Amino acid sequence: MSNATAGGPGRLAGNGAVVARAPAKINVHLGVGPLRADGFHELHTVFLAVSLFDTVTVRPAEGLSLAVRGEGSAAGPGAGSVPSDRRNLVWQAAELLARHAGVEAAAHLEIDKSIPAAAGLAGGSADAAAALVALDALWGTRATRGDLAGLAAQLGSDVPFSLLGGVALGNGRGERLSPVLARRRWDWVLGIAGEGLSTPAVYAELDALRAAGTLPDGTDAASTEPVIAALNAGPPAALAAALDNDLQAPALRLRPELRRALRAATDAGAGGALVSGSGPTVAALAEDEDGAVRLAAELAGAGVFRTVRAVHGPVPGARLVG
Ligand code: C5P
Repeated sequence: MSNATAGGPGRLAGNGAVVARAPAKINVHLGVGPLRADGFHELHTVFLAVSLFDTVTVRPAEGLSLAVRGEGSAAGPGAGSVPSDRRNLVWQAAELLARHAGVEAAAHLEIDKSIPAAAGLAGGSADAAAALVALDALWGTRATRGDLAGLAAQLGSDVPFSLLGGVALGNGRGERLSPVLARRRWDWVLGIAGEGLSTPAVYAELDALRAAGTLPDGTDAASTEPVIAALNAGPPAALAAALDNDLQAPALRLRPELRRALRAATDAGAGGALVSGSGPTVAALAEDEDGAVRLAAELAGAGVFRTVRAVHGPVPGARLVG
């Protein structure tokens, strides 16, 4: 990667504001290995960035302040679950970048959320990645993409992928990435049902099911190969057959209604469907763009989902806008 960040300093919108956006992700394969001593699980995963974006706007200010709009905000849909103080990953991203760059953490931050919170779509990670890119430009920190990736990994397991985007193999706790060449576009419908699910709770349920012998242990690196081959070569039926998520069974235990949501997706014509990450979003694979529009309309009428979105991927990671 070059030394320049995505866009570099100086791409200012009105009033000295800088705007960046970052995508949601689906794990088209999520193999979960054993629990490590540090409380994380070893992963073999394949991330796909999809066209549902959160936007972060930053502008000069004294000290740090934060406003959240849209999904998960106090006034928006999704139960007001997104904090607008230092508990928000965007706030932590600002403090971390300021410390790294030796500048004062001073900016007003605004998040416009389209990605539902606690949905298994890495919405909070997208916000943090967009904040790193926007604040790097606002503060002129001249951080390299490598610097930002290192900071991203400190903020959360999925933040490095939110920065990178596209398709990537993820190892370690998900922060060690190898980009995968993506040769074609994939169309999906995301169905968001019910309240958010807690990621640690879903991992803990997986551990419990494994300890009880209900589910087999672990995963291996080779388990990602079929899905990578299918992503590159198609057809959709091959990708549908390769979709796999070790967190799906524990998510279904914690949220049995998700079974109905998965069935609704296949009944409506999806080639395949799986729970995204730790859920509860259902990602339904469509044949093509027209198929996704039809599938979205069908699922919107099924009465199972709060929100239905037709998306496609891969799309780039966190970038300056405008
Ligand atoms: O890294 P992040 O803050 O997103 O992780 C949230 C939680 O998800 C962790 O505290 C852990 O319980 C669980 N997790 C895990 N193994 C991973 C990633 C996350 O157990 N590889």
